[in-house]
Amino acid sequence: MVQETAERLARLRERIRFHAHRYYVLDDPLIADGEYDALFRQLLELEAAHPQLVTPDSPSRRVGGPPLDAFAPAEHVSPMLSLDNIFNGGEFAAFEDKVRRYLKTDEPLRYVTEPKLDGLAVELVYRQGVLVMGSTRGDGLIGENITAQLKTVAVIPLRLLAAAGSTTGPEQLVVRGEVFLPKRAFAQLNRQREQEGEAPFANPRNAAAGSLRQLDPKITARRPLAFFVYGVGNPEVLAASSQQAVLTMLAGLGFPVNDLVALCNDQQEVEARYRHLANIRHDLDYEIDGMVVKVDDMDWQQRLGATARAPRWAVAWKFPAAQATTVVEAVEFQVGRTGAVTPVAHLRPIEVNGVVVKRATLHNRDEIERKDLRVHDTVLVQRAGDVIPEIVRVIGEQRTGREQPIVFPAACPECDAPLLMAPGEAVARCGNRYCPAQNLQKLIYFAGKSGLDIEGLGKKNVEQLVSEGLIRTIPDFFRLDPGRLSGLDGWGEKSAQNVLQAIAGRKNLGLAQLIGALGVRHVGEVTAGLLARHFADLSQLMAANKEQLLQVDGIGEQTAESLGAYFQDRENREMVEQLARLGVVVRAEAPNQTFLAGRVFLFTGALQTLSREEAKQLVKAHGGQVSTSIGQRVTDVVVGDKAGSKKRKAEEMRLAILSEAGFLALVNGISGERGR
Ligand code: IVH
Repeated sequence: MVQETAERLARLRERIRFHAHRYYVLDDPLIADGEYDALFRQLLELEAAHPQLVTPDSPSRRVGGPPLDAFAPAEHVSPMLSLDNIFNGGEFAAFEDKVRRYLKTDEPLRYVTEPKLDGLAVELVYRQGVLVMGSTRGDGLIGENITAQLKTVAVIPLRLLAAAGSTTGPEQLVVRGEVFLPKRAFAQLNRQREQEGEAPFANPRNAAAGSLRQLDPKITARRPLAFFVYGVGNPEVLAASSQQAVLTMLAGLGFPVNDLVALCNDQQEVEARYRHLANIRHDLDYEIDGMVVKVDDMDWQQRLGATARAPRWAVAWKFPAAQATTVVEAVEFQVGRTGAVTPVAHLRPIEVNGVVVKRATLHNRDEIERKDLRVHDTVLVQRAGDVIPEIVRVIGEQRTGREQPIVFPAACPECDAPLLMAPGEAVARCGNRYCPAQNLQKLIYFAGKSGLDIEGLGKKNVEQLVSEGLIRTIPDFFRLDPGRLSGLDGWGEKSAQNVLQAIAGRKNLGLAQLIGALGVRHVGEVTAGLLARHFADLSQLMAANKEQLLQVDGIGEQTAESLGAYFQDRENREMVEQLARLGVVVRAEAPNQTFLAGRVFLFTGALQTLSREEAKQLVKAHGGQVSTSIGQRVTDVVVGDKAGSKKRKAEEMRLAILSEAGFLALVNGISGERGR
């Protein structure tokens, strides 16, 4: 009886698999949606009646499974490499030359060209034809196990299609490809997020990454992610003679292969293909950022091998960064936290590759002179990836005579103090230590991501607190009055309470974190870490003279001088004393490796930089402990994206709450170079 049911289930699954592949992968269904739904319902009912017969590769297993506590590390079978980039035909010719020299051949070279999908690389491991592991690229050697999340992607086979001769492929097959979110789905997801008051994703790539790195696979399941396969991590098992044959075999096993893949017989054909893809890219329903060119012959691929970073048999021919022309309407001078006065161009708003650009950095005077930029000039602006837009050049032919030279101020645009220009420096600075603009930037920096990262105290809110007179100096953050705060425009009791709680959570600080947050010139996160490891505590650092500072590995003249001046300053010393009086405790971060002893960390939400396992190892390496449930033992809670109930609980329990960046800064202070 059970045997019979098991066989019936197997047949049902096979039918569903077949029709799902027709529908999702081939886009060519053979039965009506209603019929498919009926089959699926039968499967669910039968499995519900016989839960012991449910298999991990059943089509019913796509729905999501229970939420995870953390992503486990997943070691790749062979490294997941990157690709070298090229930008023009000349560079492609050079690539081919190199390939020829390496292979010592004049024979014709054939290439497979594929769209370079702008999503997330993943690895899928199949054993005996069943998907057993799916992971992110990670650092190329070890990624994160996101099997449950990847199973929700409709086009990823949970079991390989029975290939000809009814085998299910090799014993183990390691497949690689790109997961992405189609443009339309992205637009819809963002509309929905905005309605729900959530921040929209910046681009489809981020949306895909955010969807895949969800600890709760049910959330992933709701995002219509797609996938194209582009290679194999253990090609030897396929015994294919060419990249094209590999892709054909993968298609036969049920994987979606991009239909723009094309075989090119020589350089000219490759170039033509590049132009074609560049022309049609905006008509596609997914983002591509270039074309990948691969030597087709597998023997040659094998002989060419790879460097530590990238294969020698493939190259990414990228599309140029998005550019557009617009007009510089004005140039404004901004005063930064160290007094540096930098020009910013205000542009006539222009859409560059889907993003409206209104401003561009101009860096400094030299840069403006080099470009001979004037107000009212027509300029070419460029936006590459997520970086701040920049002005590439002036379009001289468009000059009308109305253009005005950019006049550099002699005095600070905010406080009118004379600007100083140190010899050898390109930047002018406001030397007034009481300059309100500088002060504001310092306060924003202190509360912001590079500083204490106080939730709820972003740029806008700090600006408001300063302009309303609630905050003038750093210690004022710790003196905020709940009544005045909740009475401000746009604030209420709840938001005030949240911010005060976040501030209270920062009263226990690592030395490196505090040094970094002060915003001393030439002292960034890394330097702060070096100092914190060298000096036993803050008072020692404050008492150090220039010679003593110079003894710290990695600290040079400029930094030593800047620090010396900072801590010799009476007002700065007083500020630090005030912090102590207000209950801010600065933990020494002596070079001993056990400074986390006695602390128990809990991680919740999705971390961006570290895997859960790495985070755990870091805590342990410094003598701390990790807990997965929130109890009295827990002392510190590190919250990633989408942290839910545990974060709320931690807030209720008034535990120290850290962001991932805060956590990294904390361990970085001691453990040193973990930066990637
Ligand atoms: S081949 C060892 N093919 O580009 C070969 N990669 O810069 C490397 N990518 O991490 C992968 N489309 O995420 C290959 N058709 C394609 C691709 C592709 C997108 C991504 C992939 C990889 C990155 C390398």
